[in-house]
Amino acid sequence: MSDIYQRKRDHIDLCNTGDVGPGDHRGLFEELWLVHDAMPELSMADLDTSTRLLDHPLKAPVMVTGMTGGPPEAGRINRGLARVCERLGLAFGVGSQRVITKAEASAGTFAVRDVAPDVVLFGNIGINQARDFGIDSVRALMDRIGADYLAVHLNPAMELVQPGADADSDFSRGYETIARLVDALDGRVLVKECGTGLSPRVVRRLHAAGVRAVDISGSGGTSWIKVEALRARGALADLGLLFADWGIPTAAATAMAAGVGPQIVASGGVGDGLTGGKALALGADVVGCARPVLQAFLDEERGGEEGAAAFLEQFIQGIRMVMALTGCRTPTALRAAPRVVGPRLAAWIEQGGRGGGGGER
Ligand SMILES: Cc1cc2nc3c(=O)[nH]c(=O)nc-3n(C[C@H](O)[C@H](O)[C@H](O)COP(=O)(O)O)c2cc1C
Repeated sequence: MSDIYQRKRDHIDLCNTGDVGPGDHRGLFEELWLVHDAMPELSMADLDTSTRLLDHPLKAPVMVTGMTGGPPEAGRINRGLARVCERLGLAFGVGSQRVITKAEASAGTFAVRDVAPDVVLFGNIGINQARDFGIDSVRALMDRIGADYLAVHLNPAMELVQPGADADSDFSRGYETIARLVDALDGRVLVKECGTGLSPRVVRRLHAAGVRAVDISGSGGTSWIKVEALRARGALADLGLLFADWGIPTAAATAMAAGVGPQIVASGGVGDGLTGGKALALGADVVGCARPVLQAFLDEERGGEEGAAAFLEQFIQGIRMVMALTGCRTPTALRAAPRVVGPRLAAWIEQGGRGGGGGER
């Protein structure tokens, strides 16, 4: 139990202060410019940021994606952030609930319903655990925190550099597992990556399996390969550093998944409202943010719930500013906003969805 708690503590510490941010690009959002409208013909009071994620309304198209649970400090983070999301009308996800199966005492660190009775809440489990635990156990994990939905995370890149016995190396029977979960949970499933991105081929196959929402979680934000490389030693650490920038940039992944079918949460380096507005313009329904919110919460001078709330309010104000300066009254209208796309992002969008590669197509 102490090992798994230590891993969760390492994750929080490395994400708060370590060098685990973007490398050679910033999700390629730096290659998207929305064209300024000097005469937007609207009042800020006309803007409507409200939207829906799956079957639930949100006051703004923003989600704090799953991060933690396990040691007592994780409970403080989950409860604080859930309360802030409830206050602002945003969606909230807890981190992987796998730890509960190893340390029953950790269950309370995922319990947020008493402080956030109405927040749109996502439970969280890895795809391999979803495959191996069986549907009833997964449903029980979700039900015991009163989650509205289950986020199933995929992170094969991270698993391959993660030190320790918990690392997975068998990535088989994924789609079959998702289809069974979707069926058993009446479609209350979101499938997410963790910073290396979902390709349009994967999104298409998830859609065919009945998935109604995905979280792109592309590269350009927190690099989980870097996080695990910093925890690893020797050859494993070297391998992690070699692959530190691996993944589909978030802007490209979002654009390529737009219109495929499932609703899209765009996360991975979406750490401010300007980037959030760009993600919405590329076709995201909701934008997701993890590490920057955690850092705001853990800030020693001005953190806690007030710090996280101030960060998220500024984030939403940034989205509103993008909407106003492109003459868009709603987040959805941003999809038609005039834009300029740089060469690397354009190349990704044009070529990144083509066939090739291994596995069953
Ligand atoms: C401290 C921390 C812990 C995380 N743990 C989980 C997890 O347990 N399950 C999960 O699906 N994603 C987890 N993530 C990944 C995030 O949900 C997100 O996909 C990723 O960090 C990219 O977003 P960002 O660039 O805004 O951080 C974690 C992120 C952070 C910062």
